[in-house]
Amino acid sequence: MNITLNTQTALTGDLIIPVVQTDTLAGQLVNLARKLGLSAAVLQRDFDADAKEVLAVYGPNEQKTYLLGLGANPQEMDWLRVFRKFFFDQKSKLPVQLSIDLTAFDGNAIEGVVLGVRGGDYDLKLYQTDKAEGPVFFSDAGKLTLQVTTEQQTVAHEALIRAEAISQTQRQMLDLMNAPASHKNPQTLADWTVASGAQYGYTVTILDKAELERQKLGALLSVSQGSDVPPVLIIAEYIPEGIDNPRKVGLVGKGVTFDTGGVSIKSSASMHLMKSDMGGAAAVLGTVEVAAKLKLPIHIIGIVPATENSTDGRSTKPGDVVTAYSGKTIEVIDTDAEGRVILADGLGYMVRNYQPDVLIDLATLTGNVIAALGYHAAGMFTQNDDLAAQLTQAANQTGEHVWRLPLWDVYREDIKSDVADLKNYSGKPIAGAISAAKFLEVFSEKHPAWAHLDIAGMAFADTEFGSQKNATGFGIRLLIAYLQMVVSKTRE
Ligand code: BES
Ligand code: MN
Ligand code: ZN
Repeated sequence: MNITLNTQTALTGDLIIPVVQTDTLAGQLVNLARKLGLSAAVLQRDFDADAKEVLAVYGPNEQKTYLLGLGANPQEMDWLRVFRKFFFDQKSKLPVQLSIDLTAFDGNAIEGVVLGVRGGDYDLKLYQTDKAEGPVFFSDAGKLTLQVTTEQQTVAHEALIRAEAISQTQRQMLDLMNAPASHKNPQTLADWTVASGAQYGYTVTILDKAELERQKLGALLSVSQGSDVPPVLIIAEYIPEGIDNPRKVGLVGKGVTFDTGGVSIKSSASMHLMKSDMGGAAAVLGTVEVAAKLKLPIHIIGIVPATENSTDGRSTKPGDVVTAYSGKTIEVIDTDAEGRVILADGLGYMVRNYQPDVLIDLATLTGNVIAALGYHAAGMFTQNDDLAAQLTQAANQTGEHVWRLPLWDVYREDIKSDVADLKNYSGKPIAGAISAAKFLEVFSEKHPAWAHLDIAGMAFADTEFGSQKNATGFGIRLLIAYLQMVVSKTRE
């Protein structure tokens, strides 16, 4: 399906008119009714413009028009959700050509609309063999026209390009996240990154197991020990062309392609969901790709320690002590607290070899952050108030919410070890997301602009796509919005 902008009034195919719920809704509907050649009373009786409400009406010349409710005061995420739901629900009934009338809105609505429309085509049936042919609207023949005013055109054009770039990358990340361990392992992530780097012009380096041993990434290696598939460290570096001294942002993402818990094995009830334990990796790799596509004037290094956390005779055992890349020793109290252990090496490698101006890690790190914040915000940890403010602003803009939790030093007590430099688990069922963050802080080497985002509740969640939790693509839009903020701040 092809999306184009149009500033002419002649529209073809069915028409969608988004409607915001305001005090003047009745008046809006009178105008709409006049435009469509319908009775105002009909529209007013059946349509309240609640979010996701749909009213289909036929005009005198049999043109079909959908009024699509946006609720009151819609933000980018509301546009996205409303359009995604509409297209997901209606896709099999849609004709090959469709227009959306956006002339009443500012160009900024475009991004949510495009991400929503594209998202509506996603399906989880990756491995079904009797798949019906897809809907005609989403086939190559499909055409979507976004009707905008001439004043909106420039903003709309940029928003369209950005949204297309993000949704195309995000969809691949959804597929990687939703893929089970039978269909992905650390090498799958490495292969994807190598191909992406070649396509979009950024450098990818893969450290294989032998190289990890040579360079002593002992923490990452210890987690992978019980698995048949070897670990890798993925390094993706995007350097913008023609920019003197661009800001350097380091992103580190947890890439556990399956988390059984290891010897401290998880109970089976929801273990199958642990194919999603690479949500941080998806956010980081996706962000580097989008940044390269959009040619953002910023230097980005993405590092992903990737491994499976399995259990066999060679597995790390509770009580084992391992030496991380930084030289610090870790007492592994619980092998299911593996994310922080591999991130110790991801962060350590980043800090020692790249010295970024800003360092952000993302990880599906703790069940405890879900206990604290549920499925509505990622836990954000940082000692840097400016960074916290910027990430919060990017989160509010995109609707990928974050909420700050403390990093007070009293929590450091929880991970003091009797025998090693620190231990990976407090042994107490309290403040688990915070003690995990305190653990990571040690390996950020007191970086002045480090933030950790615990995205355990956000990366994999309930969606309209299926009955089980599935991938959300969380983090890419947030990080791209943040990076764009960094860019505009440097220009000031
Ligand atoms: N990958 C899990 C965290 C997780 C839980 C992500 C639920 C998404 C949904 C992580 O590796 C883990 O197992 N954490 C343990 C840590 C504990 C043993 C200290 C947890 O949260 O229970
Ligand atoms: Mn675990
Ligand atoms: Zn995990």
